[in-house]
Amino acid sequence: MTKQVAIFASGSGSNAENIIKHFENNSNVNIKLVLCNKKDAFVLERAKKFGIPSVVFSKKQMEEGEILALLKKEQIDFVVLAGFLLKVPDEMVAAYPNRIVNIHPALLPNYGGKGMYGMKVHEAVVAAGERESGITIHFVNEFFDSGETIFQARCEVLPTDSPEDVATKVHALEYAHFPQVIESVLEKL
Ligand code: GRF
Repeated sequence: MTKQVAIFASGSGSNAENIIKHFENNSNVNIKLVLCNKKDAFVLERAKKFGIPSVVFSKKQMEEGEILALLKKEQIDFVVLAGFLLKVPDEMVAAYPNRIVNIHPALLPNYGGKGMYGMKVHEAVVAAGERESGITIHFVNEFFDSGETIFQARCEVLPTDSPEDVATKVHALEYAHFPQVIESVLEKL
């Protein structure tokens, strides 16, 4: 049975594109929909390039349950958050137990939680003088960045590294691991 997957993103969508490419020739997994809360986010261009339908929605529509209703109508089995900045409503978490995954550009539980996203994370890591950073892929629960960890990968942070240098190393880990981790979770559904 083909697993129908929806990707939520708020920005550039480089992870979303990487995931789309990874599953392009996988008949067991269909990236059916890209959903975005920003009308001019570049992820929408990326979805278009791969012929994947996209939906732009507002925070209000998410909070009022319209997006959960859409996922059910589209018979979505699994949700991937790839650079998505809104909190997932409790009703949606409840409807998709251990079927929503998120990627965070740091080693949770450190450098996570509300407001910790994108460059803010890497700036905090550098400011704290950390010697390593990395990625955390986790199931989504009703709290920001605190669901069960599925996978972590680490990278070295040099004293001379800028936040941008850290971002480059972390993005490399995201591209190397996120699709495969999604695939392994889907295989166990
Ligand atoms: C990534 O760093 C991801 O870890 C975080 O948001 C960023 C999304 O980047 N959740 P992109 O939109 O996939 O390029």
